[in-house]
Amino acid sequence: MKRIKALVFITIAAGIAAIGILPGCDELVTNETRDSIEVTLIVRDSTCVEYCHSDDDFEVMAAIRQWEYSGHSDTVFYDDTLFGQTALYCGPECHTMDGFVSWLDNDPDTSGYPFELGCYTCHQPHTLQLPDSTWNFSLRDTSAVILAGGQTFDYGTRGRSNICANCHRSTYDMINWVYSLQINDERLTEVLHAAHEADMFLGANGYEYTTYTYESDHNDVVSEGCVGCHQDYDEGFALGGHSLNIRDGNGRAVEEGCNVCHTGDDEYSDATIAAKQSIFDITLNALRTKLISTGMLDDSTFLPDPAYGVIADPDSVGALYNYLYLTADRSRGMHNWSYAMGLITSSITFLNTTAK
Ligand code: HEC
Ligand code: HEC
Ligand code: HEC
Ligand code: HEC
Repeated sequence: MKRIKALVFITIAAGIAAIGILPGCDELVTNETRDSIEVTLIVRDSTCVEYCHSDDDFEVMAAIRQWEYSGHSDTVFYDDTLFGQTALYCGPECHTMDGFVSWLDNDPDTSGYPFELGCYTCHQPHTLQLPDSTWNFSLRDTSAVILAGGQTFDYGTRGRSNICANCHRSTYDMINWVYSLQINDERLTEVLHAAHEADMFLGANGYEYTTYTYESDHNDVVSEGCVGCHQDYDEGFALGGHSLNIRDGNGRAVEEGCNVCHTGDDEYSDATIAAKQSIFDITLNALRTKLISTGMLDDSTFLPDPAYGVIADPDSVGALYNYLYLTADRSRGMHNWSYAMGLITSSITFLNTTAK
């Protein structure tokens, strides 16, 4: 069961720069000559140049420097490990630029050289060869994303947060497998590896007990979705913007995005986000302790103990799944506090009363 809190709807009128709607750049290109080694563009006027890179507009430069601080510029992108699991569970379509483009079926790069998640992962470059090239550096894909459990993720002006949800979501409809107990080590490992941020934000794809009423905080109000908190505000290169970092680990946070809504005593800062996350950690640890004592979780690796395999009811495996799911959404409660706490509380309640 789900109940959405009665919420005040707030529109964020942030000053969002919109490179995605540069008009008619294709018309500016009047001619092109090409041979095997050289492509020459003859541009009729300087609109493109002035719009994107000019003496008084450094947005592209800023984006590049910020991106360097983001998780997307990770140099170990392909052999990345998370909780001891290799990146390959999510595959090249999430971990490499060429893999993602290929997955979108957007004129795949066939060089076979894996790239980190650079600009052209999300943006359509000025590619000559593509018949459908927009020429305007717009986002490659803004269509709504259907999550593994069938829910629709559609956020942001012009759907600009949808690009994130393509990768930051549960990989499989694991809940179905939990219900039917078609669960094994490999599948549980995938739960841990996948980044469930889109699901968590929506309040979806946790294992929900029928006796508990789940609530959600942000999905009805943060209409810009991911970029509303992670990208629309920035401070230098390491916070916000294309760094996508909300906190820098040195006591600073880009909290403007939060405080559009959270005002007065409810304002967020680096310290108050950290304090709230510690409460989340303590609560999730209580679930972990419970799972260890029921024999479902190994007490040193915190990975599923093979013993879970003999537990023959979905509600028990569901508690284990919830632990893994909540660990893999790395906001530590920030994306959807009420849903996260609801999943923990209902899992612990179940284990306390009826664990088999
Ligand atoms: C993870 C996806 C992603 C990657 C990678 C990415 N961008 Fe963006 N970028 C976006 C989104 C989303 C927007 C907002 C688009 C909109 O408002 O329609 C954006 C907007 C922009 C803008 C407009 C101004 C601004 O900062 O909002 C510029 C300039 C830009 N990107 C440049 C770059 C450059 C240069 C790179 C590579 C260093 C890059 N982007 C990499 C997602 C990405
Ligand atoms: C092509 C797949 C892909 C797309 C598209 C994408 N991401 Fe990522 N993102 C990743 C991968 C892979 C990583 C690095 C591994 C990890 O830490 O999850 C990452 C890392 C991150 C991190 C840093 C995580 C950390 O541990 O430091 C943030 C924050 C983030 N992404 C947010 C976003 C947002 C917001 C968008 C949309 C504007 C987006 N991503 C689009 C795949 C993607
Ligand atoms: C309501 C604001 C908000 C929205 C919307 C939001 N996030 Fe977050 N996100 C946060 C906060 C706060 C953190 C915790 C940052 C920290 O602790 O450094 C976080 C953490 C993360 C992390 C882990 C970053 C890290 O450094 O470990 C990723 C990845 C991430 N978010 C991706 C996303 C994606 C993808 C979306 C959209 C589906 C999204 N977020 C929507 C606020 C938001
Ligand atoms: C568009 C409005 C909006 C934005 C932006 C927003 N929030 Fe929220 N947030 C809400 C609403 C509404 C609630 C639910 C009612 C409440 O508890 O205040 C909520 C609830 C929360 C909760 C649970 C509060 C509790 O104690 O129960 C946390 C934690 C939270 N938000 C953190 C953040 C952080 C951190 C950011 C920025 C990274 C952020 N929010 C951005 C509107 C927003």
